[in-house]
Amino acid sequence: MERYQADLEHEQLVVRRGERSGVYAIVAVHSTALGPALGGCRLWRYDDARAAVRDALRLARGMTHKSAVAGLPLGGGKGVLMLRQGEALSPARRRAALEDFGDTVEWLDGAYVTAEDVGTASRDMEVIARRTRHVSGRARRHGGSGDPSPSTALGVETSILAACERAFGSASLRGRSVAVIGLGHVGMRVARMLARRGATLLANDLDVTKRPAALALGARWVSAEEALRAPVDVVCPCALGGVLDDESVPALQAPVVAGAANNQLASDAVAQLLVDRGVLWVPDFVANAGGIVNIAVELEPGGYDPARARMRVRAIGDTVRAVLDAAEANATTPLAAAMELADARLADAGHPA
Ligand SMILES: NC(=O)c1ccc[n+]([C@@H]2O[C@H](COP(=O)([O-])OP(=O)(O)OC[C@H]3O[C@@H](n4cnc5c(N)ncnc54)[C@H](O)[C@@H]3O)[C@@H](O)[C@H]2O)c1
Repeated sequence: MERYQADLEHEQLVVRRGERSGVYAIVAVHSTALGPALGGCRLWRYDDARAAVRDALRLARGMTHKSAVAGLPLGGGKGVLMLRQGEALSPARRRAALEDFGDTVEWLDGAYVTAEDVGTASRDMEVIARRTRHVSGRARRHGGSGDPSPSTALGVETSILAACERAFGSASLRGRSVAVIGLGHVGMRVARMLARRGATLLANDLDVTKRPAALALGARWVSAEEALRAPVDVVCPCALGGVLDDESVPALQAPVVAGAANNQLASDAVAQLLVDRGVLWVPDFVANAGGIVNIAVELEPGGYDPARARMRVRAIGDTVRAVLDAAEANATTPLAAAMELADARLADAGHPA
């Protein structure tokens, strides 16, 4: 479902054809009011340029709010390397496209800082880094913060604990049950952490090769539909977006939903459906901010430090509590409360409303 009208409220939109590769690079800088606009570089196939530009604009705006609500000194941006449907890049042209992207990032002179995203990986950041300093998420041996997934998983675990404390009066997971949907880089780690805390697990992934590892954690393997409808304490979506909609929410039995998946709501209106159903939903961009919180530590004086990063990621629990408090106090949804918190921080920093 289309959730974003491509209204321009951005500071910059740059579209450049790569000199080496011919691949178009698009960078949207939504806001630098709170700091440099950080957001990943997505290498993806699109039907047309309009779809690619819209993706960059929408994702950049999302990054502004995600960083603002997490209290980070970062703005929001996003990069796209646009391929046409069916187009494949040879390794040499792919490298050339990444270097071209690096030139575009450098041209923006620090207004935008890139990172890995769908279609790019940490080693691609090394290629981009040949052309610009404004790259984050490089390998640890190059002074970067490395793979963001462990931090994202820690942030999700922290969010689940904060939400359970609110819903059940205790953050203990002993005797609690959680359905984890999607056992990828983040979901499998979350499942492991929850199992260690004594939770009973239900698990699902489209990819059945994940099943043995799930069973090894003591999880019961179920279908995706069963995971969403199960009488568990928590549903933890860690696969793709759009899982919460007009059909799935009325069937939910879990009092808490918190997970890593981006864009969990099929539309913003679903946030109210969840409240009406008595479900405590932690907004996805609050729960899954661990990766960006970890990256932000790279930009702190003294550079990246894993212990400091873990401390900052655990502070996501405070954000969850602040959002849930505000939602309760103002009789609004956690989505609206999180957006208001982000907007207030942006307004204080001078971002036009
Ligand atoms: N990796 C991070 O640091 C990070 C940060 C923020 C948000 N996220 C979001 O969290 C989610 C998971 O990220 P990831 O890095 O673990 O991705 P991943 O690709 O490693 O894992 C996703 C898993 O979900 C499974 N899956 C896909 N569709 C499914 C479906 N319909 N039903 C069940 N399983 C399905 C895949 O088989 C895969 O195992 C994504 O939405 C991502 O955008 C990730």
